[in-house]
Amino acid sequence: MNEQQRADGSLRHLITLENLPRPLLERLLDHAQSLARPLGARAPVSRALAGCTVANLFTEPSTRTRVSFELAAKRLGADVVNLEVQLSSRVKGESMLDTVFTLQSLHIDALVIRDAEPGVPSTVAAHVAPHVSVLSAGEAHVSHPTQGLLDALTIRQHKPSFETLSIAVVGDIRHSRVARSAFHVFRALGVADLRIVAPPPLMPEPGEFSGCARHTALESGLKDVDVVMMLRIQTERMAQADLPDADHYYTSYGLTPERLALARPDAIVMHPQPMNRGIEIASEVADGPQSVIRDQVRNGVAVRMAVLSEVLAWRSAG
Ligand code: NCD
Repeated sequence: MNEQQRADGSLRHLITLENLPRPLLERLLDHAQSLARPLGARAPVSRALAGCTVANLFTEPSTRTRVSFELAAKRLGADVVNLEVQLSSRVKGESMLDTVFTLQSLHIDALVIRDAEPGVPSTVAAHVAPHVSVLSAGEAHVSHPTQGLLDALTIRQHKPSFETLSIAVVGDIRHSRVARSAFHVFRALGVADLRIVAPPPLMPEPGEFSGCARHTALESGLKDVDVVMMLRIQTERMAQADLPDADHYYTSYGLTPERLALARPDAIVMHPQPMNRGIEIASEVADGPQSVIRDQVRNGVAVRMAVLSEVLAWRSAG
C-alpha cells in the first residue's frame, strides 16, 4: 500500500504520483471525466463537501493551479481560504509547520501546498493531525501531481488508449516537476514510447526517467509522435550563467508549424503554461488546431474536484 493511501485503499494525501496504483489513478480520471464540461456549459456544482474547509498555502506564484483548486473546492460546497506568502506570517519568520498548525486549529480539512523547497509537502503530511489531508500543488522541481492527472485526462479525451501512444516531452526536463509527474502517470497507464527531448544541459540525470528514449534533436524526438508536451525553461531554478539564449533556443527547440509536421497529422500539442511564445512554442502552434492547451486548463478544475472528493469523501460519508 502506498503511504499516501489509507488502510481501505482510499487516497489521504496527494504528494506524488510515483507508485500510485493504476486502478486508483483510473478511478480519479474517471471521476474527473464525469465532472468535465465543454466550454460554455454550466459547471457541475454539488454540496458534497459542505462544512469542509480547504486552505491554499502558496509560497510560489501560481495562477491556474491556485484558482482551479479554489474553484474545485467551492463547486463541491467547501469553504476556501487562500494564503499567499506576502500575507502569511512566514515572512515574519514563522515556520511553515507553525502556519500549518494554526490552520489546523482553525478546522482546516485539506491543505493545498505549493513551495519552492523540495520535501515541504511530505514534511507537513508527516506532522498534521490524522483527519487532515495534504495535497501538493507543485513541489520544487520534484512533483506536480494534479498537473500530471490533468495532462493524462486531456490525452484520454483525444486518444483511444495509452498503450499505443508515442509521447514526446520537450524542453527543460531537468528542472520540471510537470515532466516528472507526467512520467509517473504515463508509465503507470502503460505508455510504451515515452521520449524526452532537451538540449544536454536541460536533460535530467541519467538515473531519472528510466526507460525513456532521450533525444537531443527536436526533429528525431518529434518523429511520428501522437502527443507533444512542451515545457517552459524554469529560469527561477537556474543560475543566471546557465540560462540558454532565447533566440538560440527557439532556433533549435522551438515548436514551429514545420517541426510539428514531423509528428503524426493528428498529434495534439500540450503545454502546462505559463507559455513563452517565440521561445519554446510559436503562437501559430499554441493557438492552432492541434493545440489542447486550453483543454488542459479546463480539465484542471475537474481533476482537482475529483482529488478533493477522494481525499475528503470519508468526511461527507460521516
Ligand atoms: C507549471 C508549474 O508551476 O510547475 N505551471 C502550472 O502549474 N501549470 C509549469 C511552469 O511553471 O512552467
